[in-house]
Amino acid sequence: MDDSTPAASAQAQERARALWSTGDYARIAERLEPVAAELVGALGDIGAARLLDVAAGTGNVAVAAAEQGAQVTATDLTPSMVALGSTRTEAARLPVVWQEADAADLPFDDAAVDVATSCLGVMFAPEPAAVIAELARVLRPGGLLAVVAWVPHPTAERLTKAFLRHQPPPPPGAADPRDWGRPEVVEGWLSGAFTDVACAERAFSWDFATPAEATEYFLTASPWHVASLSALPPTQQAVVHSETRAAIAELATADGRVSMPSPYLLVTAARR
Ligand SMILES: C[S@@+](CC[C@H](N)C(=O)[O-])C[C@H]1O[C@@H](n2cnc3c(N)ncnc32)[C@H](O)[C@@H]1O
Repeated sequence: MDDSTPAASAQAQERARALWSTGDYARIAERLEPVAAELVGALGDIGAARLLDVAAGTGNVAVAAAEQGAQVTATDLTPSMVALGSTRTEAARLPVVWQEADAADLPFDDAAVDVATSCLGVMFAPEPAAVIAELARVLRPGGLLAVVAWVPHPTAERLTKAFLRHQPPPPPGAADPRDWGRPEVVEGWLSGAFTDVACAERAFSWDFATPAEATEYFLTASPWHVASLSALPPTQQAVVHSETRAAIAELATADGRVSMPSPYLLVTAARR
């Protein structure tokens, strides 16, 4: 089936929703709060700006921005994320509006927002060009964009190697999420609709007291790892499990701790 047909795109959405509902993303998001804070900090004084957070997950950016007084709308493709996020912002008594939406098809008027953000979110949407067109469309002229994406790094690649070996290769022409972490690619993508594009690499690290803690964390909480593992037949699951354990054990330092550097790219730009 041609990937661009409505049926194929509905299937891709269903696959993404199933993937992001797997594992326990809230445990991952907890550790990523400093990244969201960095993204919101990069926006400067946003006051009561109308801010749209896309692929918002459990609401790390939404919370940080709403706490600063922004009028936040948070969207995500996955209903369970919207449920977790809205429960969280309600409990915190923050007036965030939540809505299900695909990043490539945002249900908002042209020029409806002052700020658009996505923290480790739009990098996972399959069509970067469509996502960027939507972000540009909903931002008012002069409005700000801030996007965070993982930068390709050998440690992360080591952790995924065992999984990728047992998976079918991505279809030819499929978007590579890692492109959002490559400044030369992102600058090219944004140069048409945006000005003042700036890319800054920032440090982040997944730190654990022991290799066993790290292995349990990724294989229980991380949606991509859990979904990839459960898609395999049991014998292959056992192989991937033990290869992952071994790859993580190799990263342990003399005191037994595991520290996995995982830099990210913070991209800011202004709508022309
Ligand atoms: C790694 S999580 C990031 C969540 C959140 N921004 C954070 O900082 O924790 C990726 C999110 O992207 C969402 N997502 C994936 N594909 C999407 C798409 N095409 N449109 C909107 N959201 C999408 C997933 O449901 C998930 O919540």
